[in-house]
Amino acid sequence: MPETTKYVLDESEMPTRWYNVIPDLPSPPPPPLHPATMQPVGPDDLAPLFPMDLILQEVSTDSYVDIPEEVLEVYRLWRPSPLHRARRLEKALGTPARIYYKYEGVSPAGSHKPNTAVPQAYYNAKSGIRKLTTETGAGQWGSALAFACGQYGLECEVWQVRASYDQKPYRRLMMETWGATVHPSPSEVTEYGRKVLADDPDTTGSLGIAISEAVEVAAGDPATHYSLGSVLNHVLLHQTVIGEEALLQFAKAGDTPDLIVGCTGGGSNFAGLTFPFLREKLAGRMAPTIRAVEPAACPSLTRGQYRYDFGDTAGMTPLLKMHTLGHDFVPDPIHAGGLRYHGMSPLISHLYETGLMEAVAKPQSECFAAGVQFARAEGIIPAPEPTHAVAACIEEALRCKETGEEKAILTALCGHAHFDLGAYESYLAGRIEDLELDDERIASALTALPDVTV
Ligand SMILES: Cc1ncc(COP(=O)(O)O)c(C=O)c1O
Repeated sequence: MPETTKYVLDESEMPTRWYNVIPDLPSPPPPPLHPATMQPVGPDDLAPLFPMDLILQEVSTDSYVDIPEEVLEVYRLWRPSPLHRARRLEKALGTPARIYYKYEGVSPAGSHKPNTAVPQAYYNAKSGIRKLTTETGAGQWGSALAFACGQYGLECEVWQVRASYDQKPYRRLMMETWGATVHPSPSEVTEYGRKVLADDPDTTGSLGIAISEAVEVAAGDPATHYSLGSVLNHVLLHQTVIGEEALLQFAKAGDTPDLIVGCTGGGSNFAGLTFPFLREKLAGRMAPTIRAVEPAACPSLTRGQYRYDFGDTAGMTPLLKMHTLGHDFVPDPIHAGGLRYHGMSPLISHLYETGLMEAVAKPQSECFAAGVQFARAEGIIPAPEPTHAVAACIEEALRCKETGEEKAILTALCGHAHFDLGAYESYLAGRIEDLELDDERIASALTALPDVTV
């Protein structure tokens, strides 16, 4: 029998429930606060931006949420996604480690983002909303939402961070092909965008600024809602379909992971892969180490503070207790645009504080070197974001080579780089820089944090 390379599931084996990790944790994460009252936000505070189904998922204490049939139908366009055994990478590295990767690049948008874009568009359409607004960093989330809105007849308006708008014209064209309207952020379309441009006409933008613009437009129109591609509990919930599938695939492989690595921007692909494994760990059925990998240029977990902060730059969102570099922090324009976010999901931040996971930061040159090595062995060219996970995976596999350990390593390969080849061009031409992020820059952004004493 030839050795298995891909562990695939039949459509009939696709999970029909999302998993909510919160009831299984030793304590729940601290609640979001209303910045005016400093009291926990209630459903009514969120209703101008989100439909009630998503608000209820945001605060749910149920362990499982059924995936609606209308969502499963769209999921079946690409799900279940494959789990690969990276045999050729193992050989290239000469490691005794067994390397697996769960590949989300098979979705129409080329990443994990449609796993939540589809249910978000579905619940909004069901509640009678006409349009969704959003931000996009890498262009991955915006294209996922553009695709999902098209499936349920919604309009979609996207603010794409200036750095990525300029680097990735084909991402914009994807969004437009699926019917969305795209603006560079900061834009002249919103009051906040005009203010930022007046202060700094050459700004490369940030996810925080783009969120402020998308929220401003949604808050001003009752037929429009806002949609977020990461950070919030309901987004992480939807992504758990990844980990639930991976568990079934590991059972087919007759293996269990000793280490799971994933990149973290706002935390959603990482949560999606790891939370079902964390459930198994908390129940004593396996014991994987769970490791987040963030960019050295935007190290919210490893160098940020665990404080209440705004999710956006203008301060329009509720206050979230999270690892943050400060909502004013504008990261250097690294190529992994989806990892350029000042904060981290409150749920991931809480897990990190509780000691249930660890985190490392990697400079982008190491990540691109790992991405190229991976592509030359396995064929798939990883998006700049998951090259961070690939770099951590290769690091561990080489450690195993030294120690002789036969660890099973599971990597989240959350997207491909077909629209990020400009980044690889820079790397191959030797133009990738690792700028030092000094403590003063972080300290200065942290001074803008609101004073919360709860
Ligand atoms: C391919 C890809 N990976 C990772 C991320 C980071 O987001 P998250 O941490 O929510 O998965 C993004 C965000 O845009 C992305 O496009």
